[in-house]
Amino acid sequence: MDREKLIAEMSLEEKFRFLTGAGMNHSVECKRLGISSMRLHDGPYGLRMKADDAVEDVFLKIKSAFPNGREGAEVISTAFPSGAALGAAWDPELVFSVGEALGEECRMYGVQAILGPSMNIKRHPLCGRNFEYFSEDPILTEALAEAYVEGVQSQGVAACPKHFAMNNQERGRFSLSSEADERTMREVYLRAFEGVVKKAAPWSLMCSYNRINGILASENGWLLREVLRKEWGFDGIVVSDWGAVKNRAYSLLASVDLCMPYQEEALRQLEEAYRQGDLDDEVVDEAVGRLLTFYERTRLQEEGAAGLEKICDLKAHHGLALKAARESMVLLKNEDHILPLKREGLKRVLVVGERARSPYIGGDGSSRVANPYCVSSPLEELKQRLGDGVELEFLGDDLLHTFENEIGVMEGRLCRKAAEADVVLIFAGQEYSGSSEAVDRTNIELEPYMEYAIRACHRVNRQIVVVLNVGSALSTRNWNRCAKAILVSWLGGQAMGQAIAETLCGENNPSGKLAETIPGRLADAPGMAEYPGDGYKTVYREGLLTGYRYYQEKGITPDYPFGFGLSYSDFTYVAMSLKEGVLRVSVKNNSERDGEEIIQVYVQFPQNSWASHPPMELKAFRRVFIKAGDCQSVEFEVTEDFFTYYNVSLRRWVCEEGEYTIYGGPSSTQLPLSVKINCKGPRGVTMNLWEE
Ligand code: BGC
Repeated sequence: MDREKLIAEMSLEEKFRFLTGAGMNHSVECKRLGISSMRLHDGPYGLRMKADDAVEDVFLKIKSAFPNGREGAEVISTAFPSGAALGAAWDPELVFSVGEALGEECRMYGVQAILGPSMNIKRHPLCGRNFEYFSEDPILTEALAEAYVEGVQSQGVAACPKHFAMNNQERGRFSLSSEADERTMREVYLRAFEGVVKKAAPWSLMCSYNRINGILASENGWLLREVLRKEWGFDGIVVSDWGAVKNRAYSLLASVDLCMPYQEEALRQLEEAYRQGDLDDEVVDEAVGRLLTFYERTRLQEEGAAGLEKICDLKAHHGLALKAARESMVLLKNEDHILPLKREGLKRVLVVGERARSPYIGGDGSSRVANPYCVSSPLEELKQRLGDGVELEFLGDDLLHTFENEIGVMEGRLCRKAAEADVVLIFAGQEYSGSSEAVDRTNIELEPYMEYAIRACHRVNRQIVVVLNVGSALSTRNWNRCAKAILVSWLGGQAMGQAIAETLCGENNPSGKLAETIPGRLADAPGMAEYPGDGYKTVYREGLLTGYRYYQEKGITPDYPFGFGLSYSDFTYVAMSLKEGVLRVSVKNNSERDGEEIIQVYVQFPQNSWASHPPMELKAFRRVFIKAGDCQSVEFEVTEDFFTYYNVSLRRWVCEEGEYTIYGGPSSTQLPLSVKINCKGPRGVTMNLWEE
């Protein structure tokens, strides 16, 4: 495709039309010049698309994916675990495979871009979209988002990291200004985007609805032109969040290339600005040129349309969703090794809570996968595994909701059944609206009737296991002592049911770790003092102290710290050494079970630093399989990134001279290994890492 020639041949009106969507999920086609329309669909963890939108020839080839005909139906796609679950797996390779599979499904349906990954930082636990986001930590977020983008784009489909930037709460998302100092922005909220842009080169990126220090993200020239394009070298298209553009001309000046969805006034705004001389041909042509490059980059999938059956194996994708769900299970507590369930002597199991029968596999809003390929039920999977020898009784919401109202009567019934059981498995969480786009949560507590149920059962039976089917951090403080084991399954996608049953029964050894702190009380969490803002702005007063950094600095003990998660194996951190830029961490599996451990590396900045720093920062991590009884050594390349911070005066990342401590361990609060390193450099700006 000769871009210059095409641009020269396009009329101004055609160009203006090209810069704005033609409908909900597609761009205009320009038949005269042989440019067909491009499709951009949600995302991020399963394709969401109306069957009517599937391109005709694609539809004809894959009719089987639309069993009830095409009209009004949603396409069948794989519902992978949501971002919070993938975050808890700490596994970039896994996320790459998920990205690859999503890319394949997009190709199958003729989609050019998937609207993901969702990669905002979880600033506080109330954000309704935390279930979509990976973590409270920028380094973990960056690694996973990079893998996602690389996976999707390996299929010739564009990824579209979102929401750029500082869209950290849903309440007031269309207008609220997120106010933060530049260092906080660079180190916490822009950091993962910077890494993704520089290392994974996404072909598109979505700007957010909110304002940043007063300026709409969609009109923010500093953010989009200066930082994103000039500084980081982003050469893809900037797509607006749906309806984020207020004035198409201002947004184009800030370099938003595609305004989504179709907006009637956009064309008029562009014409008006052009007539007034506020917009010139150069700006218009630049954006059109980038859109044409995007078009070219995503054309691969058209070739794919020829051999669709080969492209996509939904069964295999279900297997991948299962692997992801397994890896994301976080075991918070396991007193007396109540888990895995011991078959011997197990005669009666009581399963309580509707989520066991109809689990929440994802959250609400644009990310909801409307027609998942197949959904496994925890209850059915448990039945299969426990077999006929075990009597399994289930009490769903029909009973429990009555329990809420007629407490005495129902408590009596529930307790009677609980008393007769060898073990009680309680599936609990929050209402579906607790994990939703456009609304924030109002609390981080269990639904009250489930808390009653846990307490009631505990009165008569101490063998209680709680499975939390939740989108994000949920306090356990009020009822923790009533549960011997707590397993978090997140919104773990279509195969979550099987992964839960496998974990409870011991076929899967849990290995996920928290990618977000679980606070004891909402008031303990960072950002809460300012929440929800004054209606105009929300001030990020906690600055760099997000997530675990805040709890550590303030000396607040959360329910469970960032990075925490138990296993059925038992790991010991044996040794750590640093030689010529390579950090070596050795971990032993002391148990008789093979298992996977997530090794975490944190850095503490010099005590006498001229700048202030959080107590420590995550710098690297690795998921590693360790056979029973074996010891594994893992090597990390220690790069400059371990020691730099963003210096606002110098307007770049710098390393200060001084003594740094590198810690290694299984979580942010258990770091048994450490080494010290001196970084030297004239005036504390440059450095020679390896000089002793
Ligand atoms: C959401 C985006 C989504 C878009 C398109 C917006 O409301 O914020 O995440 O991709 O809608 O559905």
